[in-house]
This record gives sequence, structure tokens and C-alpha cells, in this order.
Amino acid sequence: MRKNIVAGNWKMNTTLQEGVALAKEVNEALKGAEPKCDVVICVPFTHLASVNEVIDPAKLGLGAENCADHKSGAYTGEVSASMVSSTGATYVILGHSERRQYYGETSATLKEKVALAFENNLTPIFCIGEVLEERENGTYHEVVKAQIEDALFHLSADDFSKIILAYEPVWAIGTGKTATADQAEEIHAYIRGLIADKYGKEVAENTSILYGGSCKPSNAKEIFEKPDVDGGLIGGAALDAPSFMGIVNAF
Ligand code: 13P
Repeated sequence: MRKNIVAGNWKMNTTLQEGVALAKEVNEALKGAEPKCDVVICVPFTHLASVNEVIDPAKLGLGAENCADHKSGAYTGEVSASMVSSTGATYVILGHSERRQYYGETSATLKEKVALAFENNLTPIFCIGEVLEERENGTYHEVVKAQIEDALFHLSADDFSKIILAYEPVWAIGTGKTATADQAEEIHAYIRGLIADKYGKEVAENTSILYGGSCKPSNAKEIFEKPDVDGGLIGGAALDAPSFMGIVNAF
């Protein structure tokens, strides 16, 4: 059966020292705990190797927030999937709306990134989601469908099964405006239906679909209780260990 997962996305926050301290705090909080979900932190590239030193991989997974769409070579400033993997990280967020919006990421580049993540044994946390206008004009199903079809539906069922999906409505990211639990459930169920149509019911039932967008300890429980919501991808609230643990413990 699919896993419940709570993953933090630190985005471009914390210095190395602050990040290592935060990772230690989360790791410490998980020591005696028996959370009912997998817990992952996705941190800036500069922090990966150092954070890897201070966490217990049996309790806390580690991921990057992006990787390059090329293997290696003359791509100044880029960080490859193999570099990420060499730090000890085992996850990578791909296709976050901030990458799509500010750095022009397209399904074509994301396909390359997914392939390179697999080659380097990284589990993609693949983000999809519509902007406010698309929610309001009722085209959000088609938007999300195209994002999944164009970047992922060329994969074999075996490879698709290794993907974690994160539905993040752009209008709910960092805005304090969360999707209601019913809104999240409606689109998550739709996404699971798309996967079932393409890969069959078993693959669909085994795919973890996380919700992201202003998730907090106060709203996580209601959202996670929905049958097609398998956890969260957490931005702001992941930067404070007690808040992040509050969301982990919502399961
Ligand atoms: P917030 O939780 O800050 O809204 O961010 C969500 C997000 O973008 C996680 O990837």
C-alpha cells in the first residue's frame, strides 16, 4: 500500500549553520517518536552533505529541491542528480511551481530531470498544480492532467511507481490560503483516476499524492484525513521544528 509522507521544502531559506541546526532539531524530535508517516526534509544544495551527517536516515529522509536536466559538463552553476545523490540524499523535488514560474521549467526539461533522478536512485517528489485563474475559470483539471501527461506518462508502470506526486495549488503556496480538505480530496481523487486510467488501479492505489500549500499543524489533520491525500509538502511551516513536527503528528 502507498505510504503516508510529510516532506519539508525549505526553499531558499536558512544559512548552512541554521539549516544544520534545524535538521538536528527535527532529527532529535523524531528520536523517540513513532510517526505514522515517512518524514523527509528537502534542503538547499549547499546544506545536503552537512545535513546528511547529522540525521538518522532510518527516521528522516533527505532530498534536494531541484537538479539539473543534464548529466554533467559545461553548465555553470547547475547541480546534477549524481552530485545530489553523492551527498547521501535520496529524494529530489522536481517541477515545483516556483521553478516553473521563475526559471521557465517545462515538461520537456522535467522529463530529463526525472530520467536523471532515476539513474541516480533519487525518488522524485513531482509537483503539479494550477494558478488561481485556472482554479477560478474551472480549467484546473485539464492543467493538472497536462502537467502529468506531458512529463510523466511516457514512463513505464515500474518507473511511474517510484514517483511521489505533490499537488500544490499555486494560489495556496505561501499565501496562508489553504485549499479546503474537500477541494484537496476532489483533485487528488481526480489525479488518482488519471493514473488508474493509464497504469491500472494497482499502480494508482500505490501512488502517494501529497498536498502542498499553506499546510499547518492546525489544518493538516483535516486534510490528511481525506482518503486520497497521503501527506503534505510543507514550505513555511517546515522551517520551524515544532510546527513541522505538529504536521508530522497530524497522522
Ligand atoms: P507553503 O507551505 O509555505 O505554502 O509552501 C508550500 C510549498 O510550496 C511546498 O513545496
